[in-house]
Amino acid sequence: MIEIFANAQELARGAAEYFVARSAEAVDRKGFFTVALSGGSTPKALYQLLAESFQTQVPWSRTHFFWSDERHVPPDHPDSNYRMTNEAMLSHVPVPEGNVHRIHGENPDAAEAAREYEQTVQQLDLILLGLGADGHTASIFPGSEVLHETARLVAAPWVEKLNTHRITMTLPLLDSGASVLFLVSGADKAEIVKEVIEGPQKYPAQFVQPAHGQLLWMLDKDAASFLAADKGQ
Ligand code: 6PG
Repeated sequence: MIEIFANAQELARGAAEYFVARSAEAVDRKGFFTVALSGGSTPKALYQLLAESFQTQVPWSRTHFFWSDERHVPPDHPDSNYRMTNEAMLSHVPVPEGNVHRIHGENPDAAEAAREYEQTVQQLDLILLGLGADGHTASIFPGSEVLHETARLVAAPWVEKLNTHRITMTLPLLDSGASVLFLVSGADKAEIVKEVIEGPQKYPAQFVQPAHGQLLWMLDKDAASFLAADKGQ
C-alpha cells in the first residue's frame, strides 16, 4: 500500500493519524500498544506532532516505545536516535519511564547491547522505518551480513562506510510487526523510492515483508515524484 501526501507536513499528519489509529486498535484489543520508532531526520515532524496537536489522542500510559535501530553512542550524544525522539516527543508527554525501552547504545560491546535488547523486545503492533538513499532501512545496509539473519531478532552489524557498529532489529523481527510503516520524504529520495517500489529486489528495504502484517509506504509528493502515475493514492 502506498499513500502519497502533498508535502512533508501533510505526510507527518497522515502518519500521526495512522499512529493514533493503530494505538487505539491495540489498546482496545489487548490493553496496551507496542511501537518501534525509527531514527534519522524524517520522523521528527511526526514525533513533534504527536507531542503537540495529537497529544490528547495518544494513550501514553499504555504505549510502550522501542527503537528499530540505534547508533553506537550514549543517549545524550547528538547522533542518538533515542535523544532525537526524546527531545521531539517523549520529554513532552506523560509516558511512564517504564514504558520507554531504549537500546543501550552506550554499551561499549555493541553485540552485548543487541543481545540485551533481544530480551526486551515484544510483539510489535507498529514498526516505523525510514529509507536511506542507498536503500538501507533501520541499520540493515546493502551487503550487510544481517540481511541473511534468520534467528536473531536484534543484531550489531559493523557498518564499514560509517566506520561504526549499529544496533538494529533484524528482518525476522521487522517481518513480525502487525503494521510496518515506511515514512519517506524529499526529492533526494525519489530515485531510491522508485527502485525499491518498482525495481527488482536488491535493496535491504525491499526485504521487509511482514508475514501476516500490513506494509504501508507513506511518501510526500517529492519522494514519490519518479513513481509511475498509477502508484499511490
Ligand atoms: C537511522 C535510521 C535510518 C534512517 C534512514 C533515513 O538510524 O539513521 O533508522 O534507517 O531511517 O537513514 O534517514 P533520514 O530520514 O534522515 O533520511
